[in-house]
Amino acid sequence: MPDPHHITHRRKIGAYYTPIEVTRILCEWGIRTRMDKVLEPCFGGCTFLEAAIEELRKKGQKFPNENIFGSDIDPLAFEFLEKRLGRGVNSNHFFRTDFLRLTPGKNTCENIDFVMGNPPYIRHDNIGLEQKKSVEHWKANKNIPLNGRASLWAYFLLHSLSFLKQGGRIAFVLPGSYLTAHYSKKIQNQIEENFSAVTAITLTKRLFVSEGTEELTIILLADGYKTNSIKSKTVRHCLADVEELDLFVQNYWKFENTPKASSSSQVGTGMLPQTAVDALGQLNTLQGVKLLGDISSVRIGVVAGDKKFFIKSRSAWRDLNIKKKYLKYIAPRSLWINGVRLTELDAIAHENMDIPCLAINPPKEPKASSLLTYLQSYPVEKRDGNSTFNRRGKWYQFLDAETPDAFMVFMTDLGPRIILNEVGANCTNSLYRIYFPEISDADLKLVVISFFTTFTQLSAELVGHGRGSGALKLEPGDVGKLPLYLPSRSKQDIDIAFDALDRIMRNRDFDSVTSYADEFIFKNSHKFVESLSTLKSGLKIARIRRMRESMRKKYE
Ligand SMILES: C[S@@+](CC[C@H](N)C(=O)[O-])C[C@H]1O[C@@H](n2cnc3c(N)ncnc32)[C@H](O)[C@@H]1O
Repeated sequence: MPDPHHITHRRKIGAYYTPIEVTRILCEWGIRTRMDKVLEPCFGGCTFLEAAIEELRKKGQKFPNENIFGSDIDPLAFEFLEKRLGRGVNSNHFFRTDFLRLTPGKNTCENIDFVMGNPPYIRHDNIGLEQKKSVEHWKANKNIPLNGRASLWAYFLLHSLSFLKQGGRIAFVLPGSYLTAHYSKKIQNQIEENFSAVTAITLTKRLFVSEGTEELTIILLADGYKTNSIKSKTVRHCLADVEELDLFVQNYWKFENTPKASSSSQVGTGMLPQTAVDALGQLNTLQGVKLLGDISSVRIGVVAGDKKFFIKSRSAWRDLNIKKKYLKYIAPRSLWINGVRLTELDAIAHENMDIPCLAINPPKEPKASSLLTYLQSYPVEKRDGNSTFNRRGKWYQFLDAETPDAFMVFMTDLGPRIILNEVGANCTNSLYRIYFPEISDADLKLVVISFFTTFTQLSAELVGHGRGSGALKLEPGDVGKLPLYLPSRSKQDIDIAFDALDRIMRNRDFDSVTSYADEFIFKNSHKFVESLSTLKSGLKIARIRRMRESMRKKYE
């Protein structure tokens, strides 16, 4: 077999090849008769083509090569074509061209029964110049208003539809953003409008680890092209691995007829069990439940432009002769914040630990010579080319006056954390800043306690996004969607509970934090107590599904 590309080149052209076990399953689903014509828009390592040939043969086709078509821009893909599929391949059916420039017709291919593939997952910002041109060309010729932030896979998916015949099918291996990205809503709509049955399967097993990426996989199966009179609804499933996918696909039609399949209240990557989603839906309507967005606003932390230059440890500033009066304590990385409050004592401890927690805070016109020397040490070229610096009045005055009431740890292996800001510190964009206008101290503490309940943590799994690394990330827009149950409690009880929670959190015992918060917040609330075991098992399952294998082992 040809040598695969170096990882950097793979990233550039988005070349991650689908395992043959998966392509076999999808071809078994998609190819219905020996006469079916099949297209792979970016065939790469040829595993889809190989599986298609096998399947056509099984169905009785003696010349399966005559039924398969494909394109790719990569010369290596054509080496694979020769090596994997041998001489029998019909070279008139394979085009070394940008798929977005391929048009259906007699000289290419048309009236396709089944389009299958795993398109390049290249983010909008990383799409190369040439490729961008063909994206623009494609957009100009189609009447599909795709958001400019769409990744390359989105164009491939939509372009592939123009090759299908009525009643045709598609099976695509897509990234998690198919279900979660804002721009993908329009794509999902297009698919639902064009097909009579649509299924999106989230696979919790990362398929491409050996290929150098931890991307989450969504398998999109759509059937009955242009045969529906009303828009269909995507049916979502979450499956563990290739074995489960195999079973599912073998029973595809049976599955579609079970009541399970008609549920549609899932959002996000579809990793929450439906029972947990239903429980959340009911609890959200109860009195006392508020959205965090109704009582607070969120902003990302200060963008420094060069954290290492602006934020250092006490001894590092001392070595540079920068006086204390030009330094300001800033919340350090979340790794160093243990409790649910950031206090004066924490700030002193951070300084003593000599971690980067002191931000330079020069006056508008610095005069002190050591300060001037340090600021002037920044290379002028680098300074002028730094777009963040250029947006500021004085490039070195990076701290703003917007110190928040609380910080949020928005990317974590477990769940998000909220931390009260008792020192009036600012933070960089490694944390979010949360502002609570018009709230008493006691109510603010109640919010923090409630944030750690199973109810809110499970909701975070629903509104947040599982990253390729397995961590959960909440975008600023997600934070306001988190529900909190805020029962009536005395100030004294809240103070005691908050102190206890802070102590438990400082021991890094996240499970006990959640149990303690559940107990305090849900006591006397019959509905919450009744649903707690569903919420707990839902949270456990959602986290396990989201995590990478190595993380899972620690969590289970
Ligand atoms: C994620 S890989 C998948 C390959 C194959 N479909 C599979 O499932 O194994 C994406 C493929 O898209 C190809 N590709 C990238 N840009 C392309 C373009 N504009 N037109 C056609 N193929 C392209 C790459 O060369 C690579 O082979």
